[in-house]
Amino acid sequence: MASASRATPDKLPAWQTLKQHADELKGVHLKTLFGSESSRWANFTRHEAGLTLDLSKQRWDDDTLEHLLALAHDAGVPSAIDALLSGKRVNVSENRPALHTALRLPAEATLNVEGEDIVAGVQESLAQMERLVCRLHAGQWRGATGKPIRHVVNLGVGGSDLGPLMVTHALADYRPENIHPVEVHFASTMDGSQLADYLGRLNPETTLFVLSSKSFTTIDTLSNANTARDWLLGRLTQHSDFVSAPPVSAELIVRQHFIGVSASPEKMSEWGIAPDHQLKFWEWVGGRYSLWGTIGLPIALVVGMTHFRELLAGAHAMDRHFSEAPMEDNLPVLLALAGIWNVNFLDIRAHSILPYDGRLEYFAAYLEQLEMESNGKSVTRQGQAVNYSTCPVLWGQLGPNAQHAFYQLLHQGTQSVVCDFIAPLKRYDEVEDPDTRRHLKAQHRLALANCFAQSRVLMLGDDALDDDGPRPEHKRYRGNQPSTTVLLDTLTPATLGALIALYEHKVFVQAVIWDINPFDQWGVELGKKIATDTQGIIDGQGDITRMDASSRGLIEAFWAAEQD
Ligand code: F6P
Repeated sequence: MASASRATPDKLPAWQTLKQHADELKGVHLKTLFGSESSRWANFTRHEAGLTLDLSKQRWDDDTLEHLLALAHDAGVPSAIDALLSGKRVNVSENRPALHTALRLPAEATLNVEGEDIVAGVQESLAQMERLVCRLHAGQWRGATGKPIRHVVNLGVGGSDLGPLMVTHALADYRPENIHPVEVHFASTMDGSQLADYLGRLNPETTLFVLSSKSFTTIDTLSNANTARDWLLGRLTQHSDFVSAPPVSAELIVRQHFIGVSASPEKMSEWGIAPDHQLKFWEWVGGRYSLWGTIGLPIALVVGMTHFRELLAGAHAMDRHFSEAPMEDNLPVLLALAGIWNVNFLDIRAHSILPYDGRLEYFAAYLEQLEMESNGKSVTRQGQAVNYSTCPVLWGQLGPNAQHAFYQLLHQGTQSVVCDFIAPLKRYDEVEDPDTRRHLKAQHRLALANCFAQSRVLMLGDDALDDDGPRPEHKRYRGNQPSTTVLLDTLTPATLGALIALYEHKVFVQAVIWDINPFDQWGVELGKKIATDTQGIIDGQGDITRMDASSRGLIEAFWAAEQD
C-alpha cells in the first residue's frame, strides 16, 4: 500500500491537473466525444480472462486517461498492488494482510508471508472441504436418524452469505451429474423469515445446516443457528415420527446436522460443532472477500469441486493480469480510474449495476457490500478526515427488470448516474432441444439488444433516434450519462471468477488512490452495540427514559402491540 507519509490525493499534482481538465471537459457531451474520435471503441476497450471491458462510453478522452494514470502512479498504485499480493499488512487498522488472492493460487505455488508459506494451509483447507463435499455428494453424510442429507441450509450474513448466494445462483447450470441430490438454501435475516420458511417445509432428518461466520459472534447468524438447533432437537428427539431406538442424542443431532465455517475454531467448539465438522479460515481473509475458501462450501456443494477450482483459476488469471499488466492495459486499474474520474471530477456519485443475465440476479447485492463496505470511508489510513468524496452510492438489479422500474430516472431524472452493464456474449448452446434452443437464443439476443440500446440511449439521448423531428420537453432525452459495459465471452466458473476479481481489485485501486483502508468496517460496529443496548431496553432491562423521544415512542408502540 502507499507509504504512510503519502500526501492525500487532492494534494497530488495530477489531481490538480485533472480538476482543470474536468472544467474543460464537463461541458462536452458524450456524443461529441464519440463524434470526434472514430477509434474510441478500440482506444478504450480491453480484453482479458474471457472479459471485454468497454470504457468508451465514459465521459473522458485520451488526455483524461493520461492524467488519471499519472494520478495512479503518484498515489503509489503499482507498489500497493505488490504489497497486497505479497501479503504485506495492508489492513492497517487491524494490522494484518488481506490475502484473499492466496486462496486462489495454484496448488504448486508458494507464497511466503512473514516467514511462512501459506499455500500449503490453503490447499489443506480446500482438501478438507472437498472431503465433506464428496461425502454429501455420495449420499454418505447421514443425519442423526440415519437418512442421507438432502438439504443444506447456509446460515450466514454479509460476506458469509452474499458471495456464496450470488455464485451458486450464477452457476446453477454447472451442477455435476450423477451425484446424490443435495439442495442448497440460504437464510441470512435476523428476523428469521427465511429460516421459518425452510423449517416449515424441510425434513429435519435430512437437513444439514452450515453455520458460516468468520467471527462466530454475529447475532444474526447465531440466532438463526439457535432456532435451527432447537428445531432439530425438538423434532428429532421428541417427535414420535422420528423417535428411533436407541434414542437419538442431542449430541449426535448437533454433530450430524451442523458444519461450522469460521476463523474461530474455539467459538465453533464452544457452540458444539464437532471438531471434524469445522472448516477453518484465517483472520487475513476479509468477510466480503471470503467466497474463495471454505466460506465457498455452498458453492462447491452446488457446482462440485472441479467447477469450484475453475472459479478460483479464473480469479487467479485476473490476479496475474492485475499484477503484471501495465497500468494502461490493466482492467481493474482502468475500471477504478473511470470511477475516480466520475466521483471526484465529474461529481457523479451514484452508480448502478445492471446485469443482462438472470443468472447474475444477486451480483448487484454482492457488489453493494464489496464496494460500499470496503470504500464507504471518510478517514484516511493515517486517521485524517478526507475532504474529497470516496465510494459512490451503488445499487442495482437485473437490467431488463430495472428498465421497467428505475431507468426512467436514468434517462430523464435530475441525477447523473454511471451504469455498469454486464452481459455474456454467448448463451444457451448446451440446450439440447433445437426448438427450445432457438427460442432461448432469440431471447438472449433480445436481452443483448436491450443492453446495447440502453447504454446507447444513455449516451446519445434523443440523437439515438434517426428521426430528430420536434418533440415536447417531456419526451426529450438529454443523454450524456456515462456507462461501462463488461462482456463475458460466456458465463462460466472461470469468467465469473475473473469478473468478481476484477471488481475486488477495482475497489482496492480506488482505496489506494483515496488513501483509505478497504479491509476494515468499523462503521458497522456502533450499530451492533446500540442494538444490544436497545434489545435490553425492549426486554425491560434498561432505562428507557435515557432514550430520545423517537426511539422511546417506537419501543412503547411495540410494548403496546404486545399487550393486545
Ligand atoms: O457487520 C458486518 C460484517 O462484519 C461483515 O463485514 C461480514 O461479512 C458480516 O458482518 C458477517 O460477519 P461474520 O462472517 O463474522 O458472521
